[in-house]
This record gives sequence, structure tokens and C-alpha cells, in this order.
Amino acid sequence: MQRRALALKREGRVIGFVPTMGFLHEGHLSLMRIARERCDLLVASIFVNPAQFGPNEDLEAYPRDFERDQALCEKEGVDILFFPEAGTMYAENPSVWIDEESLSTVLCGAARPGHFRGVCTVVAKLFNLVLPDIAVFGEKDAQQLRIIERMVRDLDFPVKIIRGPIVREADGLAMSSRNKYLSVQERQDALCLRRALETASELYRNGERQADALLGAMLEIIEAVPSAEVDYLEIVDDGTLQPIVNVDNGALIALAVRMGSTRLIDNEGLENV
Ligand code: PAJ
Repeated sequence: MQRRALALKREGRVIGFVPTMGFLHEGHLSLMRIARERCDLLVASIFVNPAQFGPNEDLEAYPRDFERDQALCEKEGVDILFFPEAGTMYAENPSVWIDEESLSTVLCGAARPGHFRGVCTVVAKLFNLVLPDIAVFGEKDAQQLRIIERMVRDLDFPVKIIRGPIVREADGLAMSSRNKYLSVQERQDALCLRRALETASELYRNGERQADALLGAMLEIIEAVPSAEVDYLEIVDDGTLQPIVNVDNGALIALAVRMGSTRLIDNEGLENV
């Protein structure tokens, strides 16, 4: 991959990159379309990265369908689909990792120790292999996106990071490869994430600025759903990801909710209105 990327760069090609863990859906494909417009060679990767899964997480169960993914990539005009094996991606005893020390300590980072270390390390490795000029990441994983931006800033990666908006199902559920785990009932119940975010946004548009009040209204909606268990629910500063009391410009509502054994995340930005 690196050899090819070096040759393409020597030809002056602008490489666009969308890293994924596969089981592609419209969210992933939307990122490919965004990248496609800004590059003349599009690379997508599929790699279920063991380093970002905790010991009790769903690495083995993570949904995979390579053939379907491959066809979708072809349809989106992906020029190179990079799908390394775990055994070739990591050296036998890797001992260098990338640890982001601030944004990674909160939200999903608090709930999933080591997760963002695995994400940063694999994304850095993928950047070194694919040598992209631009890379597109989804707002669905708002914390991940901000951590990657920070890594690129602090370690001077020559990559422009582009943010892709969240793509949702018709009924508002944020698309995720993990939605496949949901039973019919859980799928229905999972709409409480979106309902909670919409309610908070509406209260905010109507003038509510107290984070406690917004969070309270959201909690009420989620707690009314028996199968839903809140992992975290926070209103944070968009830059630092630290909780805020009075909501102003740049705030982000972020939540993780367990529906049965499936952990779903979603978020929404609160703009100044
Ligand atoms: P994965 O969960 O497959 O997501 C790949 C990319 O698709 C991420 O940038 C994610 O934010 C984006 N994405 C997922 N669902 C989306 C949606 N509904 N709307 C818009 N974008 C969406 O995130 C990862 O993989 C991994 O951590 C990875 C970055 C590949 C590193 O292993």
C-alpha cells in the first residue's frame, strides 16, 4: 500500500482516504462521496482493529461482510480498497502507541479505557501507509473526530481532516454497523436517543441555557424506555469536551446508551441561535 501511495504521490495525485471497520452503510458511503470530490484518487480501508476493542468488547462478533463492502466501494468509485489482516498490520510485539491525553479521558474514553489509544495508533499507521492528502471522518463519532484532529495538529501529520455529517435512518436512528445487533424491540426503543437529542435542541432553541435542565429532559425520555440504560449523557464544550453548566456557542450534547447488550452513541451540536 505504501509503495503504491508513494508512486501515486510522485505522479502528483491527490489522495483522499476514508478509514472504516467495514460492514458499510450510508454513513460510510457519504464520507466516500465527500472525499471523492476533493481528491483524484480515493482510498478506503476496512480493518477491524483489535487494538481499539476492550477485552470484554465485541471484536469477535463485530459484523463483517467483505464481499458486500467491496461491491459498495466499487460503486462509490473507490480506486483502492485496502484491507490488511491483523497479523500483517501489527508487528509481533508492538511497543509504540499513540496516546492522546486530554480529549480521550472523557465520554467514550472514560467508558472504554485504551479505546482511543487503539484508534489513534491505527489511524496513524493507516496514514503512514496510505499517505493521504485528505481524510474524512464522521461526526457520528464526534469524540474520535476531535481526537484525530488533535493528533494531526500535535504530531504534524500532513493530512487535512474533513468532517462528514451524521447520516441517519429515515426514523432518525444514527446509522451504525452495530445497529445490526438490535432486536426488533430494541431497534424501536433505540429511537429514544434521537428523541432525547431533538427535545434538548428544541428546548435550547426556545431559550433554555442551563445544561442541567436540558440533561434532565433528555434523561426523562431515555429512562422511560425500560431496555435503555444510560452509559453517559453530557453537554460538553465542543473544543475541550469538558462538561459545561451554561450552554453557549459550540456546545455538544453527547450520549452513549446501552440497548440490551448493544452500546449506541449519538450526539448533536448546539449552535448559537
Ligand atoms: P467505523 O465505525 O467503521 O466508522 C468509520 C467512519 O465512518 C468513521 O469516521 C465514523 O465516524 C463514520 N461513520 C459511522 N457511522 C456514521 C454515520 N451514521 N454518519 C456519518 N459517518 C459515520 O470509526 C471507526 O470505524 C474506526 O474507529 C476507525 C476510524 C476506522 C479506526 O479503526
